[in-house]
Amino acid sequence: MLSFWQWAIFLGLITFGSGVHCIGQQTCVAFQSSSSTFPIVTKGQGTPVFLSADEWPGVQRAATDFVSDIQQVTGVKSSLSNVTVTGSTVSKKASSVIIVGTLGKSSLVDQVVSHAKLDVSSVEGQWEAFFAKQVKNPLPGIDSAYVIIGADKRGTIYGLYDHSEQFGVSPWYWWADVPTTKHSELHVTASGCSHGSPSVKYRGIFLNDEQPSLQNWAMEKFTNGTGAPLTGSPFNHFFYTKLCVHVVRFKQNAIITTYFVYRFELLLRMKANYLWPAIWSSAFDIDDPENQPLGDWWGIVMGTSHQEPMMRGTPIEWDLFGSGPWDYGVNAQNIYNYWVYGAERAKPYESIFTMGMRDKEVEGYYDDGMRVPDDITLLWTDDNFGNIRRFPVISERNRTGGAGVYYHVGDPRDFKWITTFEQMSLAIDRNADRIWIVNVGDLKPYEMDTEFFIAYGWDASIWTPENLNSFVTSWAQREFDLPSQQSLQVSNIIAGLTRFNARRKPELLNSTTYSLTNYRE
Ligand SMILES: *[C@@H]1O[C@H](CO)[C@@H](O)[C@H](O)[C@H]1NC(C)=O
Ligand SMILES: *[C@@H]1O[C@H](CO)[C@@H](O)[C@H](O)[C@H]1NC(C)=O
Ligand SMILES: *[C@@H]1O[C@H](CO)[C@@H](O)[C@H](O)[C@H]1NC(C)=O
Ligand SMILES: *[C@@H]1O[C@H](CO)[C@@H](O)[C@H](O)[C@H]1NC(C)=O
Repeated sequence: MLSFWQWAIFLGLITFGSGVHCIGQQTCVAFQSSSSTFPIVTKGQGTPVFLSADEWPGVQRAATDFVSDIQQVTGVKSSLSNVTVTGSTVSKKASSVIIVGTLGKSSLVDQVVSHAKLDVSSVEGQWEAFFAKQVKNPLPGIDSAYVIIGADKRGTIYGLYDHSEQFGVSPWYWWADVPTTKHSELHVTASGCSHGSPSVKYRGIFLNDEQPSLQNWAMEKFTNGTGAPLTGSPFNHFFYTKLCVHVVRFKQNAIITTYFVYRFELLLRMKANYLWPAIWSSAFDIDDPENQPLGDWWGIVMGTSHQEPMMRGTPIEWDLFGSGPWDYGVNAQNIYNYWVYGAERAKPYESIFTMGMRDKEVEGYYDDGMRVPDDITLLWTDDNFGNIRRFPVISERNRTGGAGVYYHVGDPRDFKWITTFEQMSLAIDRNADRIWIVNVGDLKPYEMDTEFFIAYGWDASIWTPENLNSFVTSWAQREFDLPSQQSLQVSNIIAGLTRFNARRKPELLNSTTYSLTNYRE
């Protein structure tokens, strides 16, 4: 089977991304001014950013990233303020400003819409949509604004991060030490950028197989070779403080918490919205009671893996709090109560509940005729050899719950999905587009592939066999801060690696695959 990139190269010509280091996006950023641009930073001055105090906290937080991203690129720190409008008085004065907010949530944005008679019909009511553009006389006493307006919380957050990426800040700036190209001038086009609803409603990753890579890394970086006395965990306060300032709020035993704080940011920068947390020796809500509210606060929809029904980390939580066997046939009341607790605990937050119990995998039950309520999403998996087992047939395509794909890792070969996503275009064609989630192991070696999975779910219309390789070249250009010719060398290495890998997937090697003595193998 051809690997994804090999397939791309086989079918397509190598093309180059634009000079701006962003992947597959509409381009609305310029590093010099012209008659059709609006300044973000010019001549050492940053345009002030206006928000509303009644905005979503997740948008407030992303706006602080937006301002620090501008500083990262230009060295100039723009002001960020909550602004109110009373009658014809705006609480802060400036002739030119950036206004950020969510329709129906930010009273500032509502005032801009009514004062400037702004047409918002292109995004209003659309899941995660946003637009950005220059608006003249947005508010009394303000000549001009660049508005970034989301139809909902994540629409606004994605609008901000879409610009950040085009400014030159990679979603991976922290996780992969990606350098940011410096510019003294930073502008946006007056016509701005926009995006409608994503192709796939919920786009996420599953952290699984978190050992040994992340644990060993933390053990090496943050301890002198010995983990914590009780747990053996390397995730001590050295690890915490290195990772992020939020640390002080978390308890010593909350090993996963800080780790996820950064995950949340990475996910949102990639325009993902959904997370299945790590499950090996951990349970998201038990590791730290702040995990679930924090995920929601950031704007992430939480779920649990296919083996953990009703938002409870199972088996860890069941072993701690359950009683009797994990068997609904003989222990129904205890399991029922356990699930009710999970449902109540998650009630205030945006969540997707995994339904039913898994002993063996459950697709066989469905194949044998078991049916589930119409509003439950059917999540189909791959077959461990890269092929998605099944897509919705015509009679299933009008179910209100829709269908999705869990691209996983499992027996018999523990198939690793690296660069083997050509099936995802079938998922789009066959309406398996409600939920996409991919098992990313401990994340680290799979940056480009993870980002492609999410980017394709964000906008499947952009990527075709003909332009697919430009994802690799744009990615190489952005991640290594290289001119296009050198990024081609990087993408050749990446493509070559996957080509050699695809000749025989590492997980399919055994002692008989190659001869150690003959055929120059
Ligand atoms: C704006 O107001 C919100 C809500 O009170 C607050 O959390 C946030 O820190 C404020 N932002 C700024 C930049 O002052
Ligand atoms: C490791 O040893 C060094 C030198 O003795 C010490 O400064 C440091 O605090 C130790 N780190 C940990 C995590 O114990
Ligand atoms: C969905 O489609 C199938 C087959 O086309 C049809 O039999 C069924 O009545 C439809 N269900 C609904 C709820 O429209
Ligand atoms: C190695 O893999 C081949 C093909 O997948 C299989 O036929 C063979 O039995 C395997 N041999 C061993 C020793 O596992």
